Amino acid sequence: MQSRWLGRDIISIRDLSRDDIESVLLEAKEIRPNPDALRGKVVASLFFEPSTRTQLSFGSAVERLGGQVIGFSSGDVSSKAKGETLSDTIGVVKGYADAIVIRHPKEGSARLAADVADVPVINAGDGANQHPTQTLLDLYSIEKYIGRLDGLSIGMVGDLRYGRTVHSLATALTRFKKIKLRLISPPILKFPASHLDELRGLVEFHEQEELDLRGLDVVYVTRIQKERFPDIEEYEKVKGAYVLRAKSVEEQLSAKSIILHPLPRVDEIHTEVDSLPQAKYFEQAEGGIPVRMAILKLLLLGESK
Ligand code: CP
Repeated sequence: MQSRWLGRDIISIRDLSRDDIESVLLEAKEIRPNPDALRGKVVASLFFEPSTRTQLSFGSAVERLGGQVIGFSSGDVSSKAKGETLSDTIGVVKGYADAIVIRHPKEGSARLAADVADVPVINAGDGANQHPTQTLLDLYSIEKYIGRLDGLSIGMVGDLRYGRTVHSLATALTRFKKIKLRLISPPILKFPASHLDELRGLVEFHEQEELDLRGLDVVYVTRIQKERFPDIEEYEKVKGAYVLRAKSVEEQLSAKSIILHPLPRVDEIHTEVDSLPQAKYFEQAEGGIPVRMAILKLLLLGESK
């Protein structure tokens, strides 16, 4: 039987069906450290933009499966600083590694890398576009804490214009049934129209400015992405637009609801929220390990027999 995973790229969540998403989540639930699984395999971790969680959890996932990681955590310490093109970098690294994990500030860079490489390429975030493995771990957390992925009311809060995690997650939610999305942002940070078109007819959505959490199963808070604003004065107008406080959570959210955030946080969730039962963002980040182990295993070894 031909594997649907072996050698595949993960560039956009659009490339994954519901069945694909569910198979990654199932693999993640069952996966355990195994020093023999990826023995002899090398994963290149090419981060042209800062990262804590994605880079370290991919590295940890590779190590837990017995593989090795090579790479860099800034374009400044690669030959990009000498003028090398991304195509040339990937053209060389594909000969050094069995898979490539890439983060880059430019939209479309991961797709370009996949076109050049003949080994699996995993998009670890390309500009404001996509962050598909973050979405898989977001769905893993939602299923873990809420118990289902259909019939959910989800509020997305903050920078819906530049935040790649909400773009990927909203697309993924079109694969599930009876989803209601509340899109909460300042007017200049609304969801891009092209992304809304993609949701139309598949999920029920409503845009608003007011931070109203009532009736939500999941509150997905995002940082305002200062680094993506072409004009710093525009950023100054919206920074600190939303700060989630314990009082609002206690008054408006059920004890069974959850608060997620892809992190890093700046000030959009007050630290007083961290001790509330709804706060699951640090557990969410931990889910990056099993989910990324599952992805690496599927792409490098195929499905379990
Ligand atoms: N969630 C996320 O992508 O975090 P990092 O930028 O730290 O990788």
